[in-house]
Amino acid sequence: MKATYLGLDLSSPVVVGSSPYTSTLSNIERCAAAGAGAVVLKSIFEEQIFRQAASMERMEGYGDAGEYLERYLGDAYKGELLELLRAAAATGIPVIGSINCMGTGDAWIDYATSMQQAGAAALELNVFLLPTDRRTPAQELEQHYADIVRKVVAAVTIPVSVKLPQRLTNVLSLGDALLARGARGVVLYNRFFEPDIDIEKIAFVNGDPFSQPGELRNVLRSTALCSHALPQLDVAVSTGVHDGTAAVKALLCGASAVQVCSAIHYHGYEVIGAINRFVDEWAGRHGFDTLASFRGRMDYGSSEGDFYQRVQYMKYFPHGVE
Ligand SMILES: Cc1cc2nc3c(=O)[nH]c(=O)nc-3n(C[C@H](O)[C@H](O)[C@H](O)COP(=O)(O)O)c2cc1C
Repeated sequence: MKATYLGLDLSSPVVVGSSPYTSTLSNIERCAAAGAGAVVLKSIFEEQIFRQAASMERMEGYGDAGEYLERYLGDAYKGELLELLRAAAATGIPVIGSINCMGTGDAWIDYATSMQQAGAAALELNVFLLPTDRRTPAQELEQHYADIVRKVVAAVTIPVSVKLPQRLTNVLSLGDALLARGARGVVLYNRFFEPDIDIEKIAFVNGDPFSQPGELRNVLRSTALCSHALPQLDVAVSTGVHDGTAAVKALLCGASAVQVCSAIHYHGYEVIGAINRFVDEWAGRHGFDTLASFRGRMDYGSSEGDFYQRVQYMKYFPHGVE
């Protein structure tokens, strides 16, 4: 089923999210062959360049050549990514570049223009600022998102979307600020590395990087609210889309596209085709012949949209549980 996302015409609303499944040309070719509407490349991380430069400095005795190393490694890393982007664009499906914008400098603006030149159809900005300072109010952190978008939008002519973290106080107000600065869409949501603890070893371990299907529900509510309050902003649902049923739910809530990552880990690239077939079959069964004819049918503005306001378990187990 055809879709429009960020002004791009897609053959399917199923987009492969930024992940190892989009980090090599052969994986991107597998996404395209399986029927993905677009792919979001693995993010370019400024942080990675800094870390690599710092560790080379420490371990290999490069002395105080930090700045040079950063530039050298940055150019090599960026060059590889742009090469991948050029090759991926030749597969025929839209390729969305992804930039992790967290450094204090503005290097990511340079990445944005280079990605456009290399053939990116759009850009997705992966921003997350972990609050670790009790004196930094949420508004200050969120202003940073808006500033990043303003700078990137001024530097490129391709559409820009922002991949947001899940725990924002008011995603609608941030969405509004991003829209005012030229963002065309938001991705709800990013899912980050979560440190866990092994209590026997009293040591850190890695949390499971892959989502569970139940994680979709909270995203559905935000999608329904966002797509109703900010219809000019395209929403792509990321987190918890594991099958066709989940994709249909996201589209009914008003999403323009769904992004998959963990679904490929659990079920292989074939899951993309399975989701496409399910959406087509479901739409046919319900008499919808285009995505526009059912997208947003269950958003916050729909007749029963008040349901999304239910947040407390008022009526459950009023006499306690056995
Ligand atoms: C191993 C792994 C690597 C990821 N790398 C990135 C990344 O580079 N940039 C990004 O924006 N999201 C990244 N993500 C997040 C995914 O794009 C996606 O938002 C998240 O996994 C939730 O979607 P899912 O439920 O379909 O997995 C990564 C996820 C995984 C599991």
